[in-house]
Amino acid sequence: MSTSNDSDLPSFDTSEFKYTQPPQPSWTFGQPITSTEEGRKWAEQEKEGWKSFDISAENPRFMYSLCTSGIAPRPVAFVSTIAENGDENLAPFSWFNQVSAFPSVISVSCLAIPRHKDTASNIKATKGFTVNIISEPWVAHANSCSIDAPPGVSEWALSGLTREPSISVKPARVKESAFALECELLQIVDIKNDAGAITTNLILGSVKYVHVRKAVLNDKGTIDPAKLMPVARMGDTTFVTVKDGFRIPRPVWADEKETIENLALL
Ligand SMILES: Cc1cc2nc3c(=O)[nH]c(=O)nc-3n(C[C@H](O)[C@H](O)[C@H](O)COP(=O)(O)O)c2cc1C
Repeated sequence: MSTSNDSDLPSFDTSEFKYTQPPQPSWTFGQPITSTEEGRKWAEQEKEGWKSFDISAENPRFMYSLCTSGIAPRPVAFVSTIAENGDENLAPFSWFNQVSAFPSVISVSCLAIPRHKDTASNIKATKGFTVNIISEPWVAHANSCSIDAPPGVSEWALSGLTREPSISVKPARVKESAFALECELLQIVDIKNDAGAITTNLILGSVKYVHVRKAVLNDKGTIDPAKLMPVARMGDTTFVTVKDGFRIPRPVWADEKETIENLALL
């Protein structure tokens, strides 16, 4: 199987993640975006005007493509589940995020049209699942599991990836994943269309265990992005990597009050 239709493009950039200056290092409160060259170029685009979509009047497939290309980049949950009869399943989902920290809860959303996803059915039936974060060195392996295989076909065998037994749930986690969660079903919200048909299963999962490869930790005990090398999803079949990062401190009123008052913005 070829993983690319883009053989005429430059080869994949394997350079390492680096920190850079933020894009507006000297910005201060109240400055318009036209105070930088980059901002002026961005403002120029306004001249082309806006295209506004009334979602109720548009083709739903097109709006799906539009929204998944605009609500991006999305992290990708590589979800391992098990059916009641013991069949194993592995599939990637980018409608994914952590939605609560205290307690730790994640969400994964599965389209239920044109077919119900095995992942959602398995979680409904057996409750436990693992979410594995995908890294650059094995994104093709993970992507192969989005194949529309019939129930009973294990994507584990197709992917070339390795099962690592979980501690608190039945499905294995992915040994190649540097950051993996063991989750228990908290709630499924079945999202319906106007005709009352279920079109999406929004799964909320309570996080029970977090497994982190020691090699991706920084000196604070959290994740070093240079080492995790995560991939994220844009629209269509586009993935993105994280090659540059910059830090912008969160402003604190007590520290900034005087500057803001001196600028007479309020
Ligand atoms: C990167 C990526 C992200 C995806 N995200 C989603 C998603 O958020 N929701 C969804 O329903 N399908 C998503 N898919 C498609 C599923 O992975 C695909 O339908 C898969 O076959 C589902 O497997 P299952 O039926 O075994 O659960 C995604 C596919 C890829 C490659």
